[in-house]
Amino acid sequence: MNVDQNVKETVAAIAKRSAIKPKLGFVLGSGLAHFADSVEKRVEFPFAQLPHFATASVEGHPGKLIVGEIEGVPVAVLQGRLHAYEGHSMEQVLYPVRTLSALGVKTVVVTNAAGGLKKIMKPGDFMIIKDHINLSGQNPLRGPNWDKGPRFLDMTEPYDKKLNQILKACLRAQKARVFEGVYVGVMGPTYETAAEIQFYAKAGGGAVGMSTVTDVIAARHAGLRVAGLSCITNLGTGLSRMKLSHDDVKKVAQKVEKSFTKALIEFVKKVKSDL
Ligand code: HPA
Repeated sequence: MNVDQNVKETVAAIAKRSAIKPKLGFVLGSGLAHFADSVEKRVEFPFAQLPHFATASVEGHPGKLIVGEIEGVPVAVLQGRLHAYEGHSMEQVLYPVRTLSALGVKTVVVTNAAGGLKKIMKPGDFMIIKDHINLSGQNPLRGPNWDKGPRFLDMTEPYDKKLNQILKACLRAQKARVFEGVYVGVMGPTYETAAEIQFYAKAGGGAVGMSTVTDVIAARHAGLRVAGLSCITNLGTGLSRMKLSHDDVKKVAQKVEKSFTKALIEFVKKVKSDL
């Protein structure tokens, strides 16, 4: 697969319908799609209509790219993402974020729904992702290197401290409870066992989920600055009595999506001069 040629074709298909040149990107996790309604001058591209995109299948992940403006800032929003557990190849999973970079995006906010690994967390809290542990069993950059980035990618600071602090302040201003911690990325699609949750917590994890690390690795490889945010939709298995279901995960995320949306719009205003 020739990534350069493919992204060129994808970008050309987008440029046919929108003249906007996005600088800021968003990846929206399960149940957090509402933010995309704030995009003005919007043009929507269902993944199925974009050349070289695989199609998202998970409920709560509609799978489209939206190009437009928020607060006058040109943005590209991935509403829904592709997960490796759906059976997509890593190259397919990376492709949407690579498309953001090819569109001209230099900064990306990556969000997800996640299980909290600390007992003091409650559903509806947020966690700023300050680092991650990739336990998905795969590295998305395996295979021929895309020469946009190095073969051996430094991972000293995958999440931009300054952007993360701005995001945290914006959430706090919405009266949200915000933690900072390490995101543990697993493959899924099963939720974790109670023993796995104990293991991840002991390893220093703050939240666990089935996405994000691949997006972040792809984004860093393409040279993007990254801010990371988990919506804690539940406590990890065994930390509360609740059994886990995707419906509950979506419901909790949808409960906080108003404050989430407001915080992200404030974030756009704050970073506008630094894009
Ligand atoms: N585990 C993994 N992924 C998740 C969870 C969880 O508890 N909650 C939301 N996504």
